[in-house]
Amino acid sequence: MDLYDCIYKRRDTRHFTEAEVPEAVLLKALDAAHAAPSVGLSEPWRFVVVQSTARKKEIKALFNASNEQAKLGITDKNQSTLYNTFKLEAIEETPLGIAIFCDSSTLDNFTIGTIGNTSTLEWSCACAVQNLWLSLTEQGFGAGWVSILDYSKFEKLFDVPKAWKSLGYMCIGKPATDYGRQPMLQKEKWKSRSKKPYVEYV
Ligand SMILES: Cc1cc2nc3c(=O)[nH]c(=O)nc-3n(C[C@H](O)[C@H](O)[C@H](O)COP(=O)(O)O)c2cc1C
Repeated sequence: MDLYDCIYKRRDTRHFTEAEVPEAVLLKALDAAHAAPSVGLSEPWRFVVVQSTARKKEIKALFNASNEQAKLGITDKNQSTLYNTFKLEAIEETPLGIAIFCDSSTLDNFTIGTIGNTSTLEWSCACAVQNLWLSLTEQGFGAGWVSILDYSKFEKLFDVPKAWKSLGYMCIGKPATDYGRQPMLQKEKWKSRSKKPYVEYV
């Protein structure tokens, strides 16, 4: 697939078929993720592949709790009604998921590019996630990022080292829809994509 076709085809997917994700597809996507740029070549990304039904159930419970809390924050009645119709995860339906963590212990006594801003480690992980997402898209699969989670509880659930900070959970499978080649939130009339990027020239 052409790079630009892939970029524009990638969607945050919450609706999947029951198709399995072949191991070769997963490994290729993880390899692509690992080819991402990282600040000072820190490679801070950590991936935990989730296949266990029990673990998915626990993650779903965390999602449900955070989503109920999110609902309380919506003051507009119409918005609230619309939000309640949304499916914002596919944790239990997808054959597998990947919990993404950023390992801050990769910061050594001089990690190039981190002076005054260690959040660059997390940005590096976001670059890896985008590579993962594009690779899955190119292979005919898809992913949906779940961030509606209490991250400290999520980290406890996985019993990760203290230095690992969560970036969320990717639900991975075969997309059942492309939402009409637009973001689901646009299709559902929550928000529209801007026509052009904001750019200034100086
Ligand atoms: C960091 C991050 C966290 C996100 N968290 C969620 C989420 O918890 N649930 C959800 O349904 N979508 C989530 N999304 C997906 C966005 O809503 C989606 O990317 C956006 O609406 C644009 O749609 P598209 O990715 O299909 O282009 C997240 C995306 C990013 C980048």
